[in-house]
Amino acid sequence: MTIETKITKMFGIKHPIVCAPMGPFYTTDMCVAISEAGGLGILSHTTVKRGQDIGDETTTARLGADAVVAMKENMEYVVEHTDKPFGFNVRTSRNELQAEKLCTEIPKFILENQRIREQCVYALTSAGSSKTLPASKSFQELKQKSEIKHFHVAPALWLADKCVASGVDGIVVTGGEGGGHQSYEKVSSLVLLQQVQKKHPDVPKIACGGFATGPGLAAALSAGADAIAMGSRFIASKESEFHENYKGVVPPAKAQDTILVTGALGPIRLWRNEYSLHHGLVADKNAKIAEEERLRSMSREDMIKEFLATSNAYLAAYRGDITSGAVLLGQSIGVIESIESCADIINEVVSDAESLIKNVAAGIK
Ligand SMILES: Cc1cc2nc3c(=O)[nH]c(=O)nc-3n(C[C@H](O)[C@H](O)[C@H](O)COP(=O)(O)O)c2cc1C
Repeated sequence: MTIETKITKMFGIKHPIVCAPMGPFYTTDMCVAISEAGGLGILSHTTVKRGQDIGDETTTARLGADAVVAMKENMEYVVEHTDKPFGFNVRTSRNELQAEKLCTEIPKFILENQRIREQCVYALTSAGSSKTLPASKSFQELKQKSEIKHFHVAPALWLADKCVASGVDGIVVTGGEGGGHQSYEKVSSLVLLQQVQKKHPDVPKIACGGFATGPGLAAALSAGADAIAMGSRFIASKESEFHENYKGVVPPAKAQDTILVTGALGPIRLWRNEYSLHHGLVADKNAKIAEEERLRSMSREDMIKEFLATSNAYLAAYRGDITSGAVLLGQSIGVIESIESCADIINEVVSDAESLIKNVAAGIK
């Protein structure tokens, strides 16, 4: 038994389960495992290549590393290890120095490599403009010559409107309970999904933020989504490249163990530890105005200093320092009880959702 949706048909995948991108961490083996298991794996926006030891590197060296080279090598690795479809993410924020280069160079690279062109079906942009990728001539050419589809992450209704206006093929509707960067609106995933579904019923949607179980998938599909994307659930998988200490945070954690803090790129949801407790809670929508004002009045030197400090915190988490590192996780950690293989996770989520949906359908008279 399988659940067929617009997304499974669009991408030629077995299950309506997608991996959420998790840069600056690298998720290459995770991508292979998820695609092999019938979901859709994704390569994150990172400067780290699979298998690269980042133990001795400094933050400055890491920031200077080339995200285009890393993405190309990670793509080559994926097609060597699976013949299933997969995708990639580019964060198109103005602060991402290599975003435009990724949007130009990666489509060219995909065009030149037949296997990658056949398998790379999903280009996901986020954290910035939904127009950056379509504005790239090489991406337009790639769209004409392949089956690739462009989705953008919308963490608020007005951002979903912008995605639709810029002609995306679909939207990743991400609510405030998710791990990592968030919008200032902090609307929950189910409320946001209902809003977007009402306004854009025909646009393919991937629900994201807080999904980790069969009931989550059943709820999302019933509310109009065509798939779910999971981040924290796949961090706690056997194949994930996250440090064992990082993975080990997940199964014992409770849903209330994450907090929203002020990050260098806006609000960010982190596991509650020494680092996050020292980074000020994002209070309300006025926080956005105050933060923009603070950034405007900052000198370039101070901005770089702050960016380096945040990057140091990511690097610490990479190395397994879960006390002073930035441990990005969502509220869904409260419903994740064990570390399983990606295949077991996907099979369990899908079969639980199937049973729930059948039970509900059986009660309809
Ligand atoms: C460790 C980590 C890194 C993340 N990095 C990115 C990123 O590079 N790009 C992006 O669009 N979202 C990023 N996110 C957000 C996820 O794509 C997704 O929205 C989130 O994990 C969903 O919530 P969940 O963890 O409850 O599944 C990140 C999340 C985590 C946990």
